[in-house]
Order: sequence, then C-alpha cells, then structure tokens
Amino acid sequence: MTVLVSIFQNFLIRLYVLTLRLIYNFYAQIFLMSDQKINILAIESSCDDTAAAVLCNGKILSNIVATQEVHKQYGGVVPELASRAHQQNIVPVIHQALVKANIDKKDISAIAFTRGPGLMGSLLVGTSFAKSLSMGLKVPLIEVNHMQAHILAHFIEEENYDKPEFPFLALTISGGHTQIVKVSHYFKMEVIGETIDDAVGEAFDKSAKILGLPYPGGPLIDKYANEGNPKAFKFPRPKVEGLNFSFSGFKTAVLYFVQRETKNDPEFIDKNLKDICASIQYTIVGILMDKLKKAVKETGINQVAIGGGVSANSGIRKAIKDSEQKWGWKCFIPKFEYTTDNAAMIGIAGYHKYLQQEFSDFSITAQSRYKI
Ligand code: KG4
Ligand code: ZN
Repeated sequence: MTVLVSIFQNFLIRLYVLTLRLIYNFYAQIFLMSDQKINILAIESSCDDTAAAVLCNGKILSNIVATQEVHKQYGGVVPELASRAHQQNIVPVIHQALVKANIDKKDISAIAFTRGPGLMGSLLVGTSFAKSLSMGLKVPLIEVNHMQAHILAHFIEEENYDKPEFPFLALTISGGHTQIVKVSHYFKMEVIGETIDDAVGEAFDKSAKILGLPYPGGPLIDKYANEGNPKAFKFPRPKVEGLNFSFSGFKTAVLYFVQRETKNDPEFIDKNLKDICASIQYTIVGILMDKLKKAVKETGINQVAIGGGVSANSGIRKAIKDSEQKWGWKCFIPKFEYTTDNAAMIGIAGYHKYLQQEFSDFSITAQSRYKI
C-alpha cells in the first residue's frame, strides 16, 4: 500500500514539474517570438555590497558593484554601517549601471530586487528603492531570493558558456550559507543539505581572523594556500549525518591548534602561514566534496553547479573541475564576477520571473530569513 502511495506521489510531483515547464515554455516562446527587448534593472543590497545591473533578454549590459570598505577596520560586517553605506551608494550605483548600459529609464521593462535573505537594514534600502522606482516608472516589480539568484547566475546569457540542464545539483557556498540544492526548474528548488551552524565562508573568514589576517579573509587564505603544502597540518573533519554540514568545530580546532603552536613558538604563524592556509583550504574543500559526492550518489544527478562567494576559491574550483575526469560529472563553474554578491544574478532571476509574468505588489516586504 505504502509503495503504491509513494509511486502516486512521485507521479504527481513529475506531473507538477512538467506542467510548470509547459507554462514556462509557453510564456517564454511568446516573449522570445515577439522579438521584444526585456530590460531588467536589478538591485542587490543584502549584505555589504551595493550593486546594480541592467540585463537585456538575459544578457548583461552593465554590472556595477560598490564594495563597502568601512567594515574592514572592525573585522566583519557592521549591519548599521552597511545600511547607511547602501543609502549613500544606491543612487550613484544605479545611475552608473544605467549610463554604462546606455539605456534610458523609460526603456526599463521591470525592476528586480533582492528581498532576502540578508541583513534587514541592508535589504530595506534596496527593497524600498526598488518599490519607489517601480512605482515612479510604472513598471513591474520583481522580488528575488538571493540564494536562488546565486544558482541562477549560471543562466546569464554568455558566449561559450554551456548552461546546466534541469535537474542539476547546486552547491551554494557563501558567507551566510552552505547548501546543496536540487534544482528541478528555475524556481523549483529543494535544499537537500545545509550547514547546522557556521557557513563555509565564515569558516574561512574566522580561520583567517585567528591567523591575524584582515576581513574578509577567505580570498587571502586562498592566495597563501596556493603556495603552501596542503598536507602540512591535519585538521579534523566533522561527522555530520546525511548531507548536512558543520563548520563550528573546525573553526575551534584551528583556534586551539594556533594557540598551542604559538605558545611554543610565538613566530609560528609567520613561519608557516602558507602551509597553514593550504591545510585549512584542503580540509574545507574535502568536507564540501565528500558531501557533494554523497549527494550525487543519493540523487543519481551528476550535473553539478557551484555558486556564492566561496565558489571563487581556487581549491574548490579545481576539485569541481577534476571531478569531471574522476567521476564523469558535468560541472558548472561561474565566472569570478558572478561568484561574490552582484546584481547580474538578481537580474537573470528577475528576467525568468518576467517571462513567467511573476510580479510582486507594493505590499511586499524585505525578509532577512528567506528560504529557497
Ligand atoms: O556570496 P558572498 O559574496 O556574500 C554572502 O552572501 O555571504 O560571499 C562572501 C564570502 C566571504 O566569506 C568571503 O570570505 C568568501 O565569500 N570568499 C572566499 C573567496 N572569495 C570570497 N572564500 C574563499 N576563497 C575565496 N577565493
Ligand atoms: Zn551571496
């Protein structure tokens, strides 16, 4: 009996995905056949980057990011300072995006914005601005989930870039998230594994802080790791059930290791920085790849895409690339400019919502915890 119920449920899910595809293709065909130019102005303000982009039919015309330097001196993002900086940056950034794209405000088809997840104060700036602009220009408003956008960055129209086919697995790794997502269609996504504590970006940044490196330390660990020995020091790998991750124990292990070693030799970090960074990166990449392998095995899906700030990391990019040869996966690695936070990814998500005519009304609010 239970087998029959499960077969029936599976059938219903497949039917649902198929219907979604048919509706999507129907609208997409209408728009594409009509030769209409769909210009999306996209705004991203979820954390400490104020970004705006203009996309025409999924192709980038401009992609501007203003990174907030103010947080460096505090060793991490200060939410109140982030929202104030967004207020200062948002007008010039959007202006620059429009000038670079060489389009007039009257040619904008819709405004897409990041609704969440992220810092509430930061999200409020982008959300309020997008609403006002949409109201003023009398064009549709499109809300976008930041984590979905990191995944959909793979659908930006680019020459010589193969897009993933549905279904595929996405490993989204950033300063706030670590997830394995099963992507059945543009907006049909299911998180099948995630961190139960720290995000992988935090593991990089906190380890870097322990080593005395400035914020954000992830890119610096990557830089030093390239010249070090990844097997010089051994860090423990957490044992977490299923497809979930945990990084808080790893961070503590790095802290105790550094405290112990610097007690014996105060210059230990200076003498071994490259090897420590290489060993940290090697362990983190190993943790990510182990779970990804498990996810491929369990789902039978071997198309894998990575996204989010940490997907800029050379170690994870290489491990993913190598898996094509080693295990026959088909892998998708984003261009560097689409890894860390940017508005182009919000624009491509907005474009596909536009094709589905999925618009928001003005009662929409920012959501700091916004699930995929
Ligand atoms: O996606 P993102 O720009 O912002 C969030 O949504 O969190 O990700 C930022 C994170 C930071 O933790 C940063 O240290 C990390 O991405 N990151 C890196 C690298 N580039 C950025 N981590 C390791 N290696 C890198 N090359
Ligand atoms: Zn992000």
